[in-house]
Amino acid sequence: GAPVEVDVSKLAPGQMMTVEWRGKPVWIINRTEEMLASLQKANEFLVDPECEVPQQPDYCKNATRSIKPEMMVVVGICTHLGCSPGQKFKSGKDEGMPPDWLGGFLCPCHGSTFDFAGRVYKNKPAPTNLPVPPHTYLSDGRLVIG
Ligand code: FES
Repeated sequence: GAPVEVDVSKLAPGQMMTVEWRGKPVWIINRTEEMLASLQKANEFLVDPECEVPQQPDYCKNATRSIKPEMMVVVGICTHLGCSPGQKFKSGKDEGMPPDWLGGFLCPCHGSTFDFAGRVYKNKPAPTNLPVPPHTYLSDGRLVIG
């Protein structure tokens, strides 16, 4: 498939957008300071906090799984059986969520949860983090996926 160019210049902190790449949803979030802080706190509850499984390009094998610290870019398809955990992300302490929940994504199919870098929480069926697609920035606000 062809690369997809996305204008992310209008994406405000805390906002999310979804674009299609190779028939898959790619989620982009301009993460707030709070969301970024939640990544560190989540580490102990995650299956693969250091991203050892190659679910991201080498240039995103870092604490935020990203090129720019604030910008999350992940494929929004659950690594369990392929549901899409939903475009709506949750933040903070939502009712009915596990006590270790720090915000991120909830898969509606079997309850897998992911943080704001797409890293999967333990004790849920999804085995690996959500993939980070190959991507680059042409300029500050112009992202190319693929
Ligand atoms: Fe997401 Fe099963 S498909 S938890």
